[in-house]
Amino acid sequence: MNSTDYAIPTEAAERLDALVTRIEARPGDMIRAHEFASMQDRLNVRAVIETLPEGLSEDDFAGVLKLALLTECATETYGDAFRERAVRYDASWLGRFNDRVWVPDELTHHTPYRSMLLSMGLSDAELDREIRDVRQANYIHDGGDTPVHVTTFGIVQEYLTDNWHGLIAGLLRKAAPEAAYMATRVKRRETLHTVWYRDMVALQVEANPLLLPHVAEALLGFQMPGNQLAPQWQSQVSRWMPYMGADFERIARDLVRLLHTALGDAATTGRLLVELAAAKGFRVGPVSPRVLQAAANRLGGPGFGLLGEALLERVGLAYMFRQPAGATDRAFRPYGGVYERVRAMLRSWVSQQIDFRLGVGPPADAPVSA
Ligand SMILES: [Fe+2]
Ligand SMILES: [Fe+2]
Repeated sequence: MNSTDYAIPTEAAERLDALVTRIEARPGDMIRAHEFASMQDRLNVRAVIETLPEGLSEDDFAGVLKLALLTECATETYGDAFRERAVRYDASWLGRFNDRVWVPDELTHHTPYRSMLLSMGLSDAELDREIRDVRQANYIHDGGDTPVHVTTFGIVQEYLTDNWHGLIAGLLRKAAPEAAYMATRVKRRETLHTVWYRDMVALQVEANPLLLPHVAEALLGFQMPGNQLAPQWQSQVSRWMPYMGADFERIARDLVRLLHTALGDAATTGRLLVELAAAKGFRVGPVSPRVLQAAANRLGGPGFGLLGEALLERVGLAYMFRQPAGATDRAFRPYGGVYERVRAMLRSWVSQQIDFRLGVGPPADAPVSA
């Protein structure tokens, strides 16, 4: 994987430093080490088994909780991977964020799941053994190494984790409200992490638009760490998610919105789409991605803007590109009705071809609605 070129101007590094300083000063409502202690005795997570949705067994439910426990307990592993890359690319802002905010925050996330599994009847010894195995596992960080790669990874990983804790809270809410509260507490932290990484990507790409291919590379190489650390559970996620009430359209919409917000405008989002399509070899009807890229390049910003708009429309985010009245139309007036035809073609292409699901959606053969 090509991760060799990474440069941002000094002013951008200073802005990133200032962002991290702001985050350090106001990290939000961090979970305190013993915050849940008083709730632990009252937990009765076994009561949830009676209320599980049809299709989700007791073993599935334990697996859902174990996946959260085991992926959250490997904080030091991920922290080391990020720190090593921050040093390699001389990104002190990223190292500082990792060591002073992210790691201390994440270290509190696995404890509620341990309490829940104990309440389910699992033994201390079994959980200790599984946690130790995961912490000792050899984790290989996928998706590229530069700071823009790892912060893009951070957006997706934190968002999906946020979503996972939310789905768990939903399962727990009726029969084990204290446990649901704990899961929701963790979820809220992941929401903040997502937004912080989004802002870091935004500052980097704004300062150096040539980093965009790295964003694409990070997305294409993305894998949930659970695939390596707890594959026996991670591999069940796509089966579990529909029973847990996952809304795949909303997940796609949220991810596209996060990326679009990080990239700043529809044209840059369109460029990202072309990068993704070119790397994956997607075709627009008879048009290869390279030809599409050349055509979009000839049209310039407006051409990529159309693609970005098509993607945003596809996931129900059309409101995000409301341009000044007539601006796009003016740019395309010389093309007459071609504009609408191209737009319609791109929209259906986006609908049909793009894998929004980043490996967490329903089985690959499930229909994707347009
Ligand atoms: Fe976490
Ligand atoms: Fe997180």
